[in-house]
Amino acid sequence: MTNQEKEQKYVQLLKESAALLDGETDIIANMANLAALIHETMGFWWTGFYIVRKGADDTDQLVLGPFQGPIACTRIALGRGVCGTSWQRKETIIVPDVEKFPGHIACSSQSRSEIVVPLFSDKKVTAVLDIDSRHLNTFDDTDARYLEQIVALLS
Ligand code: SME
Repeated sequence: MTNQEKEQKYVQLLKESAALLDGETDIIANMANLAALIHETMGFWWTGFYIVRKGADDTDQLVLGPFQGPIACTRIALGRGVCGTSWQRKETIIVPDVEKFPGHIACSSQSRSEIVVPLFSDKKVTAVLDIDSRHLNTFDDTDARYLEQIVALLS
């Protein structure tokens, strides 16, 4: 896929995402449909959300939310893995090669590259969108730019 083709796919995906969420306010329903739409449209390996929730020890953790793809780790602490790092830094993280990301959490041995995009509410991270690819170097600034806009539809 050329960068122009990717851009065109995302323009369409952004429109479809807005239409899909229109009229529904339940965050879980919207996350579930968004994960399915992104996953199917882009052909990713794993697409899903981790939601900030209180754990048994009363600290905030990322807990597995709606997703598409193989089964995944259920809880991630602040600062751990790509997801916990995105949450801590409050920014999108692109990982071209997961083996080169210190502390990467390998839920699936088939994942080779990854992007994590935080969802904000009042400047606080409330969830992250995590996407894995079976190929190296799948994600770039185009993915970040559009996925940030798509995730922002949830807030
Ligand atoms: N690789 C992620 C963990 C979640 S799975 O990829 C679905 C991480 O390092 O945070």
